[in-house]
Amino acid sequence: METERIGLIGCGEMGSALARGIVTKGGIKPSAVYVYDLNKEREALLATELQSITAESLEMIAQQCRFLFIAVKPQDAGSLLDSIKSLVRPDQIIISIAAGITVSFIEKYLPEGTKVIRLMPNTPCLIGEGVVVISTGTTVTDDERKEVEKLLKPLGLIIRFPETLMDAATGLSGTGPAYVYLFIETMIDAGVSIGIRRDVASKLVVQNVIGAAKMLERDTHHPAEMRNIVTSPAGTTSSAMLVLEESGFRSCLIKAVIAATKRSKELLRG
Ligand SMILES: NC(=O)c1ccc[n+]([C@@H]2O[C@H](COP(=O)([O-])OP(=O)(O)OC[C@H]3O[C@@H](n4cnc5c(N)ncnc54)[C@H](OP(=O)(O)O)[C@@H]3O)[C@@H](O)[C@H]2O)c1
Repeated sequence: METERIGLIGCGEMGSALARGIVTKGGIKPSAVYVYDLNKEREALLATELQSITAESLEMIAQQCRFLFIAVKPQDAGSLLDSIKSLVRPDQIIISIAAGITVSFIEKYLPEGTKVIRLMPNTPCLIGEGVVVISTGTTVTDDERKEVEKLLKPLGLIIRFPETLMDAATGLSGTGPAYVYLFIETMIDAGVSIGIRRDVASKLVVQNVIGAAKMLERDTHHPAEMRNIVTSPAGTTSSAMLVLEESGFRSCLIKAVIAATKRSKELLRG
């Protein structure tokens, strides 16, 4: 049925991750997914991988799909919206994942009353372990939002945010995996520097992160309480914590998240 079709405009890293998650984890029929990209090689690769349909044009994808995902870089969003403004229909839902591009910016480009949803996903959506922060435009009904949330459910945790916090969602969550990867990479280097083989250090560190995260997920304790439990008097952890505090570990991370959030706000200005 036409209303079930999903269109993806922009088959890059994040757009592809979303489409893979929706098809492979969500059980959406590949033939209900249309993909379109200016980069025809990328488009063909994704269509072949998912067995989905290659849209020959923006006209085709807009005509065939009720849900239209916009997954181009923020700097390309304006010209894309210009190209689709005469194609969108009142029954369609435009779902943008472009960082920094607000719902009201999209609404201004498109015909009055167009239904717009903004998402901030992160890359673990690919394996169903992601977070998708969602904010909706004024004309999207609760039922429509629920329909979109149902589509996104296989990607991981869905969290609703007001539009005013979407740049913060970008700085903390959309960018989040990069902080964790840098932490893991650095810990592996630390393991090597104290004599542990890189492959072994990698296993230790990744499992530490998984284990610690699962403990927090399962437990209602604050992370600081969990840390206190493993910090014995005059022990190894307290020596390590002193070095991290002296080096500004926490303030450094907070500043990084603030910088990413600020950058997300700047993206709208180009
Ligand atoms: N990567 C992440 O972790 C992440 C997380 C959350 C949100 N996001 C958001 O996701 C969006 C996509 O990011 P990405 O990393 O997937 O970007 P990307 O790899 O650059 O992919 C974007 C694709 O869209 C194509 N494109 C540009 N203009 C187009 C148009 N008018 N019509 C059709 N296709 C067009 C590009 O083609 P050309 O290369 O030929 O221009 C490119 O193949 C961004 O807005 C980003 O802010 C990303």
